[in-house]
Amino acid sequence: MRLYLDTADREAAKDLLSTGLFTGVTTNPTVLQRSGLGVGDAPDIYEWAVAAGSREVFFQVWGENTATLVERGEELRSLGDEVVVKVVASRAGSAACAQLSARGIPTLLTAVYAPGQAIVAAAAGATYIAPYLGRLNDAGRDGIAEVTAMHEVLRATGSATKVLLASIRDVTSMVTLARRGLDCFTMAPDVAERFFAERLTATAVQDFEDAVRTMSA
Ligand code: E4P
Repeated sequence: MRLYLDTADREAAKDLLSTGLFTGVTTNPTVLQRSGLGVGDAPDIYEWAVAAGSREVFFQVWGENTATLVERGEELRSLGDEVVVKVVASRAGSAACAQLSARGIPTLLTAVYAPGQAIVAAAAGATYIAPYLGRLNDAGRDGIAEVTAMHEVLRATGSATKVLLASIRDVTSMVTLARRGLDCFTMAPDVAERFFAERLTATAVQDFEDAVRTMSA
């Protein structure tokens, strides 16, 4: 199981990363903008994320043509071995993903909305695809069914490409998809905190601590 934090906010990420339960952080231009950061902040984010224990740090390329996307992907990857290059699943982006993957750079094809794009990702040799579950549902589609189909396409064909689910709004959706075999999830820190919000577990902690306090040594 690999869990990621979809944030560029160091303060929001640091406590969760320190649990050792999260593999790394995922970013994109919107995520950077939300934290008041820009694409030029990638070196700084990489540095704190790795220092905090991230084994993968995702940065997204931008630009209108394949050559530009590839050039930016190589620049981002030069930050270090933990960088995974995200590319939007457009025609130009998918072509860039294929070139970067062929050069041995770990890649993620993002903003994936249809099972056919999983086929393209597999052909491109992408390490991951990131379907946007919440946004699929927002668009009136059956996000769980579409993501399940993507996962089935990749598993049935023996592709090494994995689904890394994004745009997650609740834990229940992760449970539903984990039961179908998905094992990579990226989520905002407030969604991640909900893993630790089980009331009965909190009560059990209290009961055990009370028992220790009142027992004879
Ligand atoms: C992923 O790359 C996106 O930042 C993210 O998952 C979008 O989530 P949202 O649709 O909840 O904003």
